[in-house]
Amino acid sequence: MPITTVGVVGCGLMGSGIAEICAKAGLRTIVREVNNELLEKGKARINESLAKAMKRSMEKEGVDPNTASVRMAQAVGALQYTTELSAMKDADLVIEAIIEDKGAKQALFKDLDTICKSGVFFATNTSNISITEIASATKRPQQFAGLHFFNPVPVMKLVEVVRGVMTSEATVSELKAFGEKVGKAPIVAKDTCGFVVNVLLVPYLFDAIRLVENGVASIEDIDKGMKLGCNYPMGPLELLDFVGIDTTYHISVNMFDEFKNDRYAAPPLLKKMHLAGLHGRKTGKGFYDYTDPRAPKPMKLS
Ligand code: 3HC
Repeated sequence: MPITTVGVVGCGLMGSGIAEICAKAGLRTIVREVNNELLEKGKARINESLAKAMKRSMEKEGVDPNTASVRMAQAVGALQYTTELSAMKDADLVIEAIIEDKGAKQALFKDLDTICKSGVFFATNTSNISITEIASATKRPQQFAGLHFFNPVPVMKLVEVVRGVMTSEATVSELKAFGEKVGKAPIVAKDTCGFVVNVLLVPYLFDAIRLVENGVASIEDIDKGMKLGCNYPMGPLELLDFVGIDTTYHISVNMFDEFKNDRYAAPPLLKKMHLAGLHGRKTGKGFYDYTDPRAPKPMKLS
């Protein structure tokens, strides 16, 4: 059965990006948040991003204004917003993008299992919680997989399709095809904590924090090093602020618990910044101070 209707549960930063790319791909997209305030916030984020994409398509791809606005109207029209989980009954695929909490995710999928139709595919956007464990809350773990998108979702080309222990081959191939339909390049990984990208990315980010801890170079010079020396779009400390110091800390707790390997142990400075509420861009301060977002200034951290 082709995927034509997608349910997205959670309309934060990741959920709104996922909903946007589904709508842009012409899929009917049902977005659910827990209350109207969060729903309105998510809707505003999607509309702002769609407007940015429309402007870009005219300026950089030469799309004529009429076509661009028709495309935008089609994407807006494909989106349906709700606070009712029961609206997921029509979905061919439900993608969960709620908080990174195993219990909350399992409780959600337990409810979805009673609401959704028999042929539905279930996917979680978790970055490091076991797919197999979340899937165990449902009676159809063979139709369950990870779909790990990257931030900002409308821009980043990758999606990791993660195969749980019980995930069927048919589910993996349907979700790979779905990833391509929404404009992403899928890679397939087995259900191991951090999948492919975070297993490689997290130790790199932690090494950058250790350079700060050891006073090897300034925050700006560490970032400059990787941007100019390796052509990375952001330096590691900028990227930590972008992903979120709190998010990265929680990822490290899970990864260290799984592997018991120092590569994934949170450097003390990361933990202190997390505890101090220096969570990066979202709180206005992290490795940089974003009081003037156009000219972030490195923080003095000890
Ligand atoms: N829709 C479509 N295109 C958009 C867009 C939107 N809503 N917003 C921006 N774009 C386009 C822009 O037009 C531009 O296109 P161009 O390259 O053709 O000119 C491009 O995206 C870049 O956008 P901007 O010019 O606005 O911004 P920057 O050039 O400063 O780039 C960035 C911003 C894309 C965030 C870049 O700095 C980057 O790639 N940083 C690294 C991000 C990264 O590594 N993300 C992964 C994090 S890890 C993760 O998510 C996993 C988790 O588990 C931790």
